[in-house]
Amino acid sequence: MIVLGIESSCDETSVAVVKDGRKILSCVVASSLKLHSKHGGVIPEIASRLQLESITGVFSQAIKIARIKLAQIDLVSVTNGPGLPGSLLVGVSFAKALALSLDKPLLGINHIHSHIYANLLCHTNIKLPCVALVVSGGHTTLFYIKDFSKIKILGQTQDDACGEAFDKVAKLMNMGYPGGPLIEKFAKGADKHKIKFACCGTTDEFGFSFSGIKTAVLYYLKDNKLTIKLKADLAASFQESVIRALVKKSLPACKRYRVKNLLLGGGVIANTALRQRFSESAKINGIKCFFPEIKLCMDNAAMVAGLAGYLYKQGARSNLNLNLEFN
Ligand code: KG4
Ligand code: ZN
Repeated sequence: MIVLGIESSCDETSVAVVKDGRKILSCVVASSLKLHSKHGGVIPEIASRLQLESITGVFSQAIKIARIKLAQIDLVSVTNGPGLPGSLLVGVSFAKALALSLDKPLLGINHIHSHIYANLLCHTNIKLPCVALVVSGGHTTLFYIKDFSKIKILGQTQDDACGEAFDKVAKLMNMGYPGGPLIEKFAKGADKHKIKFACCGTTDEFGFSFSGIKTAVLYYLKDNKLTIKLKADLAASFQESVIRALVKKSLPACKRYRVKNLLLGGGVIANTALRQRFSESAKINGIKCFFPEIKLCMDNAAMVAGLAGYLYKQGARSNLNLNLEFN
């Protein structure tokens, strides 16, 4: 089964072709990130205008790389939420027009669920049920996955998303945008125990909170002169504290739900220190940790087409009345 996927939930425009829910034939990603950097965050209007300009070219390239004819597409799939309304609208409108003109079925896909599915594009030994953690610029959520059509939320952030905290803390230290990769770069080799941040606690068993640590960094910066050394140590201490909080909630969730597989996904999962810590801590607890390869942690359409192939086989269907979903 050949599935075309479209992803345009934030600043990326991506089109991919995936065979049988597993094999990526092509995945083209165009990003408007550079244009947002100078504003210190994604400007929705700029993102959606660029998506409108680039989607046709990205689509043509994806078809060309996959070496398929349009008639070979069995299903058109698209992220229909959550995300920026204007951006989602570009992808969904394009997908509807394509499905209609090719006379092919259409399937709307949840962006967060597709981040988890990215693991199945990289690993063949994942066993369900499992627990999954999505850590992105917009979400920090723990899930129990009996099947990809039966996904239950165990807990989520009560305020900022984890990636958002990385971005805001980087901004406080004048590092630039997006903050995650920059904090990781500064943190490398620095003293992660220099500053103790009482991190990210909530009373919610599987919940998270990241706005407190952002404020703690703000106050720390008011009281201390930011030297290059301190900047690195602060980045490392912040990163350490966040990783600790994520591990602290995820492993007990695996134990509580008696699962041996933990799937991680979302942009923040590209962080090397985080990947190492999760692998080590999970191993000690007899749990196997899975991460998508780095480029599939970021927003991409292969994860959309992959999950669509899987769900379509189980009977999932949308139609041309497909709406945007914001939860
Ligand atoms: O999943 P994603 O590409 O987009 C959303 O769906 O939000 O995630 C983007 C987020 C940004 O907040 C970015 O700072 C963060 O992922 N990020 C990282 C790293 N690379 C990207 N955070 C920490 N370490 C990284 N290496
Ligand atoms: Zn995402």
